[in-house]
Amino acid sequence: MPDPASEPRYAVLGQPVAHSLSPRIHQRFADALGVALRYEALDVAPEEFAARLESLHHQGLRGANVTLPLKERAARLCRELSPAARLSSAVNTLVRREDGWFGDNTDGVGLCCDLRDNLGVELAGKRVLLIGAGGAARGVVPALFEEGIAELVVANRTPERAAALAEDLSDCGPIQSCALASLAEIGRFGILLNATSASRHGEDLALPQSLPAPGAVAYDLSYGAAAEPFLAWAARTHATVVASDGLGMLVEQAAEAFQRWHGIRPDTAPVLRELRAG
Ligand SMILES: NC(=O)c1ccc[n+]([C@@H]2O[C@H](COP(=O)([O-])OP(=O)(O)OC[C@H]3O[C@@H](n4cnc5c(N)ncnc54)[C@H](OP(=O)(O)O)[C@@H]3O)[C@@H](O)[C@H]2O)c1
Repeated sequence: MPDPASEPRYAVLGQPVAHSLSPRIHQRFADALGVALRYEALDVAPEEFAARLESLHHQGLRGANVTLPLKERAARLCRELSPAARLSSAVNTLVRREDGWFGDNTDGVGLCCDLRDNLGVELAGKRVLLIGAGGAARGVVPALFEEGIAELVVANRTPERAAALAEDLSDCGPIQSCALASLAEIGRFGILLNATSASRHGEDLALPQSLPAPGAVAYDLSYGAAAEPFLAWAARTHATVVASDGLGMLVEQAAEAFQRWHGIRPDTAPVLRELRAG
């Protein structure tokens, strides 16, 4: 038996993080590929993040996933950023290099892989609605344009954050912003993405029924119970043909992070099947 203390160390850092499925997902990938690793969920307060990351590095941490509320802080701590992380100012994957941390953002690729490969959704040429303007919303914009979407409308409860996102990411492609409350005036969409945390606070987005074009796709980046209100709304509109939560995105973004650390992309299908089975 290998000594767990000597295995290469990885972690997901966030607050709260006890609920995270990342340790289970990375362990399954590692077992399937015969990679030795120790992957933990570590609760880290934002004000302790920089010091904790430095100390974890000295204890042998080779890479980490970063989740709420640390993604923007992680971007500021990195010596170098991938184009996706730089454009979105948010890092969800840290890779230790000789001279410091390299920051990447695999959320967008993870979302697009789930839509394209697992759900059979064509993104090219689509008019896309992105609801929310937080770290997750920022993280997925570059990848959506790389997949060839025609246009993006970002709608947020706080319209100033949607406007800032549209301006900061304007190099990616055509992005319009609006207030969540003005969505009824903005037309129909082929793909609707919910990147808010409203349902986690038990709050309703009160979306107009007219938003989806016939045959639209509705996707909530949250998963499990948190995705249910948006998916129930999508079903009530009778226009959506595909509706999914973000569990597949979670597994796909993890596979991308695994590839950056270990040089091989795991097969995601068995892990996604296992998580869906409970
Ligand atoms: N599947 C995955 O792999 C994955 C990856 C990343 C994130 N996520 C999920 O994506 C969601 C968003 O994460 P995040 O990191 O972007 O969070 P965040 O940075 O805290 O942003 C939260 C967003 O939700 C909006 N919001 C919160 N309460 C609302 C309400 N009552 N009505 C309308 N809008 C509301 C906020 O609007 P304001 O700006 O007005 O506050 C903001 O746009 C979370 O549920 C997270 O679990 C999933």
